[in-house]
Formats: sequence, structure tokens, C-alpha cells
Amino acid sequence: MVCLGNICRSPIAEGILRDQARKLNLKIETDSAGTSAHHTGEAPDHRMQKTALKNGVDISDLRARQFVVADFDLFDLIYAMDEENYHNILSLARNDSDVKKVKMILNEVDPGANNEVPDPYFGGDAGFQHVIDLLNVAVTKIISRI
Ligand code: 4NP
Repeated sequence: MVCLGNICRSPIAEGILRDQARKLNLKIETDSAGTSAHHTGEAPDHRMQKTALKNGVDISDLRARQFVVADFDLFDLIYAMDEENYHNILSLARNDSDVKKVKMILNEVDPGANNEVPDPYFGGDAGFQHVIDLLNVAVTKIISRI
């Protein structure tokens, strides 16, 4: 799961995926990263942590890191939260196999629409819940296909 800072959207995407996989006893490896290194080492934004807990998801253990080329070797599927980050990830791809792993996460819900998970960082509390609502639906689709 990849966004810009790895402190708002991608950690909650990882947390929701991790929880859904655990409930179904699915053995999948989950992780998240940001295309920027700006927040490396930080815990998720406290507003997202609080909203996540209200939704029953604890992401307090997660720490931000930057997406790296080696992630193409470690993961089968790489989900971008928006088009800017989708293109940032693709700019690091080395070959067709890398490119094929990268997807816009909301295309799981509306294929080909290229809808984006909006960045909640500069907005109010409602934006954080909106992100969680979008990602709950998208992650349920991802899990149903695994
Ligand atoms: P994220 O949100 O990409 O969902 O983690 C952001 C976090 C920080 C900033 C922008 C977006 N920032 O500009 O610092």
C-alpha cells in the first residue's frame, strides 16, 4: 500500500488489509510505504490513528518508510492511493513485470475509473473517515480475489 507520506492513507490501508487477512487466517505479507521520505520513522498521523481505532483498527505499531526498488521483488501487488503516487512508483519500475504489479487501489472497486483516495492531511476529521470508508470497500474486494 503506497501513498505520499506513509502516515495517513497507506498505513490505514495496510491496517485494514492486515486485519481482514488475519480474520480469514490468510497468510499474506502486508506492508506500506510512501513515495516521499519526508516522514520516515514516524508513527501514523495521530488523527488517522484515532479514527482508525474508532473503526476497530489499531495502526499504532506502524512506522513510515520510503518505497524502494527492492519492493518490486518482495511484493506481488503494489497499490497506489492516487495518480501522482502511481506515477512515482512506475518511474522506479525496471521492467514489465514491475509495471504489472502496480495498481490504483480504487480500480478494485471501479475498474478503469482511476479514482483516487483523497489526501486527508490538510483537511478536517471527516476526511479521515472518508479514507477509511473507501479503503474498507477496496480491501474487501482485494481479499475476495486472493
Ligand atoms: P499520506 O498523507 O500521503 O496519506 O501519508 C500526507 C502526509 C503528509 C503530507 C502529505 C500527505 N505532507 O505534505 O507532509
